[in-house]
Amino acid sequence: MKRIIALLTVIALVFALAACSANTKNDSTEAATTANIETTVVKESATEGSNTESTAENSAPTTETGSGSKSIVVYFSRTGEQYGVGVIEKGNTAIVAEMIVEQTGADSFEILPKNDNYPMTYKELTDVAKEEQNQNARPEIKDTVPNFDQYDTVYLGYPIWWGDLPMICYTFLESYDFSGKTIIPFCTHAGSGNAGTQSKIQSAAPNATVKDVLAIAGTDTQNNPDSVKATVTDWLNQ
Ligand SMILES: Cc1cc2nc3c(=O)[nH]c(=O)nc-3n(C[C@H](O)[C@H](O)[C@H](O)COP(=O)(O)O)c2cc1C
Repeated sequence: MKRIIALLTVIALVFALAACSANTKNDSTEAATTANIETTVVKESATEGSNTESTAENSAPTTETGSGSKSIVVYFSRTGEQYGVGVIEKGNTAIVAEMIVEQTGADSFEILPKNDNYPMTYKELTDVAKEEQNQNARPEIKDTVPNFDQYDTVYLGYPIWWGDLPMICYTFLESYDFSGKTIIPFCTHAGSGNAGTQSKIQSAAPNATVKDVLAIAGTDTQNNPDSVKATVTDWLNQ
């Protein structure tokens, strides 16, 4: 009898252990699946956010870095006929913005005009831009950045227009409270470099800390994207 009881006890123990191990396996499988889904969502959103059509609605979910700071890449960029590159489908600055989003996992926001009257031919675009500059215009922006307060760091991208930021970028800088935030500017150009835009950004957002401007030749973004990507990586790792 004692032997039978001992045998039954051993069998019960074996079943209990097997059930326990199965549960643990299920839990870890579930956790791995959830992590995979989350990773996919972040990756997809980052890609969307870097698209030139992206707006506040499709920006990536907020990504926190290890230090708990949150970043967003805000940029203005034009397609159509551009200097030295013919007619382009993705703007030069947008290409750099996309690289930064990819490498940092930051959210993104494209500054789009509320009324987009910018010509798609180079000469006509330069005329309109000059007129805006002469008038110190503040062209309206289509959308607003949702919950701007949550960001500590703003990567701000723009093409150099007539030795300056496009006027719509001043609209952006004057529309938000940059107190305590860091602006990290990047620009594309056709020879002027950053054109002294760091101090212009600082004047427009006096309460922000404004870092040095990364200046990239617009033609390189279209013709040598790998080299631009390496430059962006080095810059981000500084
Ligand atoms: C209206 C306008 C003005 C420009 N002015 C300058 C300039 O003063 N200095 C310069 O180096 N490039 C100038 N460029 C060239 C652009 O900065 C360059 O092509 C840039 O990469 C365009 O970027 P995007 O495709 O993101 O708009 C100008 C281009 C345009 C359309």
